[in-house]
Amino acid sequence: MESKHFLIAGSILSADLLNLERDVKEALDTGVDVIHFDVMDYHFVPNMTFGPAFLKAMRAKFPNAIFDVHLMVSPVTENIVDDYAKAGANWISFHPEACTHIERMLTHIQELGCKAGLALNPATPPQLLRYLWAKLDFVLVMTVNPGFGGQKTIPATLTKVADVKTMAEMDDAKIFIEVDGGVKDSNIKEIASYGASVFVVGSAFFGAENKQVAIDALHKALEK
Ligand code: DX5
Ligand code: ZN
Repeated sequence: MESKHFLIAGSILSADLLNLERDVKEALDTGVDVIHFDVMDYHFVPNMTFGPAFLKAMRAKFPNAIFDVHLMVSPVTENIVDDYAKAGANWISFHPEACTHIERMLTHIQELGCKAGLALNPATPPQLLRYLWAKLDFVLVMTVNPGFGGQKTIPATLTKVADVKTMAEMDDAKIFIEVDGGVKDSNIKEIASYGASVFVVGSAFFGAENKQVAIDALHKALEK
């Protein structure tokens, strides 16, 4: 976990794709800590997004940014992970349903020098995490069904954030919890209270008319 207590990860899925350089720059200038890069393949989710060449181009423009690659692809292969790591990813997460040898894939991600995360869909139970802590840097709890920005947080997923937090504490696991889906200034504090410390924010940031106002509102809500 970085030194700041809470991190905001801006999801470029909701950015203006034809003005992405401008939008990412504005995100970093206004106080977004991490750039969340959603990779979709039309198999794991019913949508399609960004490939590694695209990440490489962004990395070239933003050499110091933290790029958080969320792989919503099936199957996840070492080849795919290699491509995104080489393109400049700092964090890489994938979904357990899309991978037969999860421990091996997490090890592979760490060996590439990236933080390794497992992403859990709303209906995916967290119990497998107990056997994986040694290879995990973070857990990405999906608070919506993956595939699209702008959805509403599913309340039952917050219980899972609390469950993951409790399990990690019981096992003395050094991980951080990231949440993804429907995070906004009106619910971020509540979600933080369950144990999340990294918040993916797509539409509530990139969809805002004034992005400085949007990020300030998120920070202010967290400070309450
Ligand atoms: C959904 C993606 C999210 C999405 C979040 O499948 O994983 O990262 O961009 O967008 P909002 O914040 O609008 O729910
Ligand atoms: Zn995501």
